[in-house]
Amino acid sequence: MGKVLVLHGPNLNLLGTREPEIYGYTTLADINRMMAARAQEAGIAIDFFQSNHEGALVDAIQEARGRYDFIIFNAAAYTHYSIALRDAIAAVKVPVIEVHLSNIHQREEFRHTSVLAPVALGQVCGLGVDSYLAALEAVIHKLAAEEEQDGGQTDA
Ligand code: DQA
Repeated sequence: MGKVLVLHGPNLNLLGTREPEIYGYTTLADINRMMAARAQEAGIAIDFFQSNHEGALVDAIQEARGRYDFIIFNAAAYTHYSIALRDAIAAVKVPVIEVHLSNIHQREEFRHTSVLAPVALGQVCGLGVDSYLAALEAVIHKLAAEEEQDGGQTDA
């Protein structure tokens, strides 16, 4: 069974009340619930972790090595300057899909740069909650393709 880890960075615990004109009214619990439902339907395991602390996110990425097939990561403000998170992603070699609710390229100049993008598999941004769901869809698709390549074997 494929396994995906969803990581949420700083201030995303405030979703629903935090600048709703930018981030919408959906809470982090709602996002996690939607993703969990889709993952269950697709038969993949999913875990979630939110932290406001850079080191805790570095630890989570390191601990994902060998345990998860993919990471879906909204690093929030750390996206724009955390070399520590970038190095962790490069070190563990678990493919990371970077997500953002807002379109970071349309906003303030300092948000246009992602130091994570060069080491990420891909980036989805600007679609609101659908950024997360689109990333999950890509993971489901890639896991199915990998399974097919392995001869269609399942570990049931
Ligand atoms: C964000 C965009 C970041 O620039 C910002 O710091 C966030 C959220 C997004 O999901 O749109 O906290 O990652």
